[in-house]
Formats: sequence, C-alpha cells, structure tokens
Amino acid sequence: MNRGIFISIEGSDGSGKSTQLSYIREYFQNNGMDAVFTREPGGTAIGEKIRAMILDPENEEMCPLTEAMLYAASRAQHVRQLIIPTLESGRHVVCDRFVDSSIAYQGYGRELGDCVAVINGFAVDRCMPDYTFFLDLDPAVGRGRIKSADFDRLEKEKMTFHQRVYDGYVKLIGEDSGRFIRIDASKSVEEVRREIYAHLDRIFSGERRDG
Ligand code: TYD
Repeated sequence: MNRGIFISIEGSDGSGKSTQLSYIREYFQNNGMDAVFTREPGGTAIGEKIRAMILDPENEEMCPLTEAMLYAASRAQHVRQLIIPTLESGRHVVCDRFVDSSIAYQGYGRELGDCVAVINGFAVDRCMPDYTFFLDLDPAVGRGRIKSADFDRLEKEKMTFHQRVYDGYVKLIGEDSGRFIRIDASKSVEEVRREIYAHLDRIFSGERRDG
C-alpha cells in the first residue's frame, strides 16, 4: 500500500488560511478522496489541552522557551499518535500549521533562534510534509483583516513581531523551495482557491474521480 501524502498549510494571521482549508476539505470530498484534517497546536486530546494552555490570554507570563517546548510537545504527540499511523495506513493528512510555524513564530518572532529547530528535530523525527502551502500576505494587511476583539494571546503581539514571523517564513521557503508552494494571498478568495486547486490537481493526478 502506498503511503499517504502529508500536506501542511501555513500563513500569517489573517491570510485567509481557515477559508482555504474549508475549500481544501471540499476538494477532497468532491473528488471522492479520503484525508484526515488536523491542526496544530492540537490534533490529539493531549495536544488540544496543550493548545488551550498556550493560547489562553491569561497566560501572559509564559516565557518564550516554555511556549516553544509546549508547541513541540503537542507536535511530538501528534506525529506519533496521528500523523505517522495515518500516513502509513495509506490515508492523506492535511495539517493546519506544522513545524514551520514554530520556526517562524518562536525561532524568528520570539527570536529564540536555532534551538527551536533542535527541539523540533526530536518532536518531528523526520516526519516532514511532502508539500507545504504558504499563504503569502503582507503582515500589515493580514492584521487589518482580523477584528482586534477576537485577538488571542499571540495575535495581540506587536507588528514588529509579525514582521519577523513573515521574514522567517520567507527564509524557510528560500531554504526548502521544493516543499513550499507559495500562494499570493492578497488575491481574491476565489483566485486563491483556484490556484490551490490547480496544485492539488497536479499532486493528486491519477487519484481523483475524473483523473
Ligand atoms: P490559531 O487560532 O489556530 O490561529 P491561526 O488561525 O492563525 O492558525 O492559533 C494558532 C496560533 O499559534 C497562531 O497565532 C500561530 C501560533 N503557532 C506558533 O506560534 N507556533 C507553532 O508551532 C504553531 C503550530 C502555531
């Protein structure tokens, strides 16, 4: 049996990631294809508990290293309990954020640097996405799209933080251009959807109902 394909979706806050994820879900349904949709932090019962702790606006005193280790802890559980077994069973996995988020947000945003890659090396244990969609949007534009009343703890961070996160993603893409699919998220929702679908057609050619 063929191993499933592992896809992750990354993007700055406000890049339209959730909307596009719902379209990706429709893509799989419309083509009669099976995939497990999951997210980080979270994806397992333990991971969801860790997620609640990380994103709780009351946890203001959480230090950056604690945050980085909690994301990695959630990921370690996710990879072993859900992602690897699913891929090995031949099903595809679509993950809302993965290790690139940690490198961008904790490594570059929080300026923890290389230790984030080291911690996550243990968490991920070579289980990396085959393809990563990056919804590319100027962070200033992205922030303008989010209602400030809905900000969680990380979204409350200053603009300079979000610019560092964005610059981090751009560096990551430069280092691993074969895995990343960079999508211009300043385009209309419909144009972005069409572009993503075209890539999915290519990735899953032969597997779709009409393919
Ligand atoms: P979420 O509400 O899922 O936001 P989004 O819709 O933008 O994905 O919250 C996830 C937040 O956690 C988001 O601000 C990015 C951040 N994050 C990290 O800082 N590091 C990580 O490793 C991951 C997975 C997420």
